[in-house]
Amino acid sequence: MTKKVVWITGASTGIGREIAKTFAKAGNIVVVSARRKSRLVSLVSEIKFAEREAVAFVCDVSSERSVMNTAKRIKEKFGTIDCLINNAGVTVFKSFLDTKIVDYDYVMDINLRGSFMCMKSVLPIMLKKNSGHIINILSVAANTIFENSSVYSASKSGLLSMSNSLRLELRGKNIKVTNIFPGAVETPIWDSKTRQKYKNRMLSPIDIANSALYTFNQPKKVLIEDIIIRPIKGDIV
Ligand SMILES: NC(=O)c1ccc[n+]([C@@H]2O[C@H](COP(=O)([O-])OP(=O)(O)OC[C@H]3O[C@@H](n4cnc5c(N)ncnc54)[C@H](OP(=O)(O)O)[C@@H]3O)[C@@H](O)[C@H]2O)c1
Repeated sequence: MTKKVVWITGASTGIGREIAKTFAKAGNIVVVSARRKSRLVSLVSEIKFAEREAVAFVCDVSSERSVMNTAKRIKEKFGTIDCLINNAGVTVFKSFLDTKIVDYDYVMDINLRGSFMCMKSVLPIMLKKNSGHIINILSVAANTIFENSSVYSASKSGLLSMSNSLRLELRGKNIKVTNIFPGAVETPIWDSKTRQKYKNRMLSPIDIANSALYTFNQPKKVLIEDIIIRPIKGDIV
């Protein structure tokens, strides 16, 4: 069987890093991207040491040029992109009143506009070969209300609506769109105090990575549309 080419954005730490290792271990060629090159280089070394395939490209998802250029480089190197995992994301935990316009732009540019551009960059390739899979890492915040998360929630529910609409447009074209909604996962997105306090209760990045791989490995005619994964004790706030 030919190996699948899987592009994971925001793979330098946390969930994205674990998704990369899990997909590589399963025999896929992983393309890891993020802004911090040194972290990507160490991830690629780790994957190659385990005799699996990985390539790193520095890519800032808030830059149209960077996103389009990365998709082009992947296509040039491997001839295709089978799966995009839209994972790059940031948050700002502030009350609505404290949230500045610069905070809004920062979160929206990466979580919503960045994911939009990544999807746009791979779709011509997927449409041409009449197959593909886009997996969006959303959050339970897309459809659960939390205080001090207004812009983050808006970015994730915006991406949810966008993905659901795109999924309908892609029906009949053999391109799948899956949304994964994680609850709290122990990663650097949380400040050290919160991580320390809740680390025993939070999910681990591998829990999300295993779910992403499960959706990807389904038969051609099967589309898992949504997966909600929470810690057994529920949300932390
Ligand atoms: N941890 C949780 O509790 C949780 C729960 C639900 C959903 N999520 C979602 O899961 C995803 C991954 O988050 P995480 O928890 O793993 O956090 P993380 O460890 O902070 O990882 C975030 C990743 O996004 C990348 N990133 C940030 N800005 C970027 C940009 N402009 N361009 C490209 N990459 C960028 C970061 O890499 P660089 O800084 O090197 O660019 C990093 O690799 C996010 O979408 C987050 O919203 C997390």
